[in-house]
Amino acid sequence: MYNKITLALAGFVGFALPAIVCAADVHTRTIASTCMSCHGPGGRSLGAIPDLAALNKDHFVKLMQEFKSGKRNSTIMKRHASGYTDAEFEAMGAYFASLK
Ligand code: HEC
Repeated sequence: MYNKITLALAGFVGFALPAIVCAADVHTRTIASTCMSCHGPGGRSLGAIPDLAALNKDHFVKLMQEFKSGKRNSTIMKRHASGYTDAEFEAMGAYFASLK
């Protein structure tokens, strides 16, 4: 009985870890696609809104945390930042940083 549980756990960890390590998992790409309606396809803005592609990851996470807390003034980014966790900011940051 315990052996089965141990095996199941080992199987789960083996399956879940690569998904967590991979910066561009489906969840992250889905979130990022909602940003691209304003920030441009592939994170390359076509207008006045800043690019997200190739932004430094730590800088991105800091910006998002400041939008969320209200420390950084914004017209709409507070609303976009408020729905996400720090872990999601990290994953998004890694994804946008990887876009060239
Ligand atoms: C409705 C349009 C819109 C959407 C959708 C949107 N943004 Fe923004 N974003 C803006 C605007 C406008 C600014 C400039 C700050 C402000 O006025 O809010 C901005 C600024 C930013 C900045 C600061 C960039 C810099 O260099 O100063 C970051 C980072 C950012 N957005 C990330 C995101 C992420 C991540 C998402 C998706 C979760 C997202 N945005 C969705 C419009 C949008």
